[in-house]
Amino acid sequence: MIIMSRLVLHDRNQPYEIEVNGEKIYICACGLSGNKPYCDDTHDMIQDEGDGIFFYDEKINRVQMTSFYKKQ
Ligand code: FES
Repeated sequence: MIIMSRLVLHDRNQPYEIEVNGEKIYICACGLSGNKPYCDDTHDMIQDEGDGIFFYDEKINRVQMTSFYKKQ
C-alpha cells in the first residue's frame, strides 16, 4: 500500500455558507472534512491552531512545523 501525502493550504477554519434553492449548504474551507466538498464539522478540532504551519493525519492528529532557521 502506498500512502501519498497531500498538502492543503487554507486560510479559513470555518465553512462557506451558500444557499441553493432556499437550502443552506456548508462547504468545507479547512480542507479536513471527511465528506468533501461539504463541511462535516471537523473544523471544530482546529479552532485553537493559531498561527503557524500544521500537518494533520487522517485522524486529525496535529504536528506543527517549525523552522530550522533561527532569526538573528
Ligand atoms: S470547514 Fe472543513 S470540516 Fe468544516
